Amino acid sequence: MSTVRVFPDFQALSQAAAERIVELARQAIANSGRFSIALSGGSTPRETYKLLAAAPYVDAIDWSRFHVFWGDERCIGPDDARSNYGMAREVWLKHVPVPAENVYRMRGEDDPQQSAVAYAKVLQEYFDLPQVDAAPVPQFDLILLGLGDDAHTASLFPHTAALHEQFRWVVTNQSPAHELPRLTFTAPVINAARHVLFLVAGASKASTIADVLQGNYRPEELPAQLVRPTTGELSWYVEAVAAAMLDRKQLQVSP
Ligand code: 6PG
Repeated sequence: MSTVRVFPDFQALSQAAAERIVELARQAIANSGRFSIALSGGSTPRETYKLLAAAPYVDAIDWSRFHVFWGDERCIGPDDARSNYGMAREVWLKHVPVPAENVYRMRGEDDPQQSAVAYAKVLQEYFDLPQVDAAPVPQFDLILLGLGDDAHTASLFPHTAALHEQFRWVVTNQSPAHELPRLTFTAPVINAARHVLFLVAGASKASTIADVLQGNYRPEELPAQLVRPTTGELSWYVEAVAAAMLDRKQLQVSP
């Protein structure tokens, strides 16, 4: 079941997202001694990441038990302005005492296929799983996702083979609409998460999110529709201008 929370502006959305991340981190650390989060890239989560590097959020997390992964990455070096890792490091991770060994970067600078295989092994090791690219699948405490204007999420782009991957946990992908090849989680990993949280802002997303949440199921065109957590919770945090076309009667919309 998914819930949609609509926020009056981008700052309110970002603050609520930071609060939710702190809440889920505290729960996971209390339950299991650690918290695993996979970050999304793009521009929307940047403000949330910045908030987590400052009071009150920075003091509310035991960073020694906080483990950071990426749900997708552009195939470029970590110091390139387009790097999802680089963005999170600059506005957040270099400002908090998360141990370097708790930050699991996708190596965008290496051969994409090799990086995808290597990252799947990182997941196998962290989650202590018997084999790669098979069940049981890595189960993140939280996976953050964004929504592209074309309804992609992570780097699962419309009409790409990655949408149909049912075994491999991490694959390379490419889209003619995006300049760089990518590394991305596949749907099985995303749908295994305990919590999946989409952050959606901007008027340009209004028709896309309406199609995804209220339109016919057609994941080939609307890859974000693939996100249906098996047992986990799916939440959408949406800025009001992006929610303008949502029929709030149809959704579990909380103010
Ligand atoms: C990426 C992201 C991607 C992003 C959407 C939305 O690497 O670009 O992971 O999936 O979340 O494209 O991007 P914006 O937040 O910039 O709109």
